[in-house]
Amino acid sequence: MSDIVEELDALRVTGLERIEAARDPEELEAVRVSLLGKKGSLITLLRSVGGLAPEERPAAGRTSNEVRQAIEAGLEARRKALESAELTQRLTAEAVDVTLPGRGRVPGHRHLISQIVDEIVDVFIGLGDQVAEGPEAELDYYNFTALNHPPDHPARSGQDTFYVEDLSGDVAVVAGESDVMLRTHTSPVQVRVMEAQEPPIYVLAPGRVYRRDVADPSHLPQFTQVEGLVVDRGITFGDLKGTLEHFCHVMFGADREVRLRPHFFPFTEPSAEVDVSCIICDGEGCRFCGGVGWLEILGCGMVDPNVFRLLGIDPEEYTGFAFGMGAERIAALKYGLSDIRLLLEGDMRFLRQF
Ligand code: PHE
Repeated sequence: MSDIVEELDALRVTGLERIEAARDPEELEAVRVSLLGKKGSLITLLRSVGGLAPEERPAAGRTSNEVRQAIEAGLEARRKALESAELTQRLTAEAVDVTLPGRGRVPGHRHLISQIVDEIVDVFIGLGDQVAEGPEAELDYYNFTALNHPPDHPARSGQDTFYVEDLSGDVAVVAGESDVMLRTHTSPVQVRVMEAQEPPIYVLAPGRVYRRDVADPSHLPQFTQVEGLVVDRGITFGDLKGTLEHFCHVMFGADREVRLRPHFFPFTEPSAEVDVSCIICDGEGCRFCGGVGWLEILGCGMVDPNVFRLLGIDPEEYTGFAFGMGAERIAALKYGLSDIRLLLEGDMRFLRQF
């Protein structure tokens, strides 16, 4: 046997080995090019056929054809094998196990505080009120001065109020000396409304308020108030009382007891607080109501003529009433929550119940 035939046979063996060793279509293509390509091993070998003796040429030609066929067949077989392996792998990777249990989706819902605020707002919209809003970071003028608070009123102290740093950022203002604070009540919205619009005024202003209180079962340093303001001709304390009693009966049912207790606010005269009999102890006295059997839910009164005068409303022509209620306490009374801190803790086991 001539050398060339031997070399061709050797090429068949090593070629087929390399084909089997190719791990992916790209590697297989590289092997194909190096065996059968224009500069591949087979062509290179065949170039030397020209130098053979004439009687050796047929055998060399035949062998080279066989080798080419064997290599082509090997390439084809390997290509199919690689493709089917790839397919199997992909199918396994993308397989969906239809027997697995589904992933449940828990739909969210409105927080109890938002629900209660909506309910309160609905009652007053039913009475013809419009909804107003104001900023949570408020100026001293709106939170205190325009509401007839004297300069030395205790609520102005840094002990009761969260003061905010000067908004320009370059002066860190000591608590109690800044003009900007987190509003301590929603009453500044009254001032903003009276500044912006002429009577008759029938508005409701829900919003968050802040006080430097230590949280306990019935107090939170951040809570929600709903403010009401009515200014019109001939408004009396009777209108105030009737409106609030109507509200309490819609909210808590006709049998819950409601009382008005004389009180003082700088911006209303006369003023009162409204208590509802404690839902936890039904008037017996408990931790939630602090032992008194009643729970204060709002402050109210007839708008002080000083406030009207400051805002350019003639107190001889117009009278009005205002109130501010705490939404968390109302939620507590409605649902029998013995601790309003639960409302801010974000425990889903609690919140999901509402
Ligand atoms: N702003 C008062 C408070 O937060 C409540 C109030 C509102 C009282 C309106 C009278 C009139 O305690």
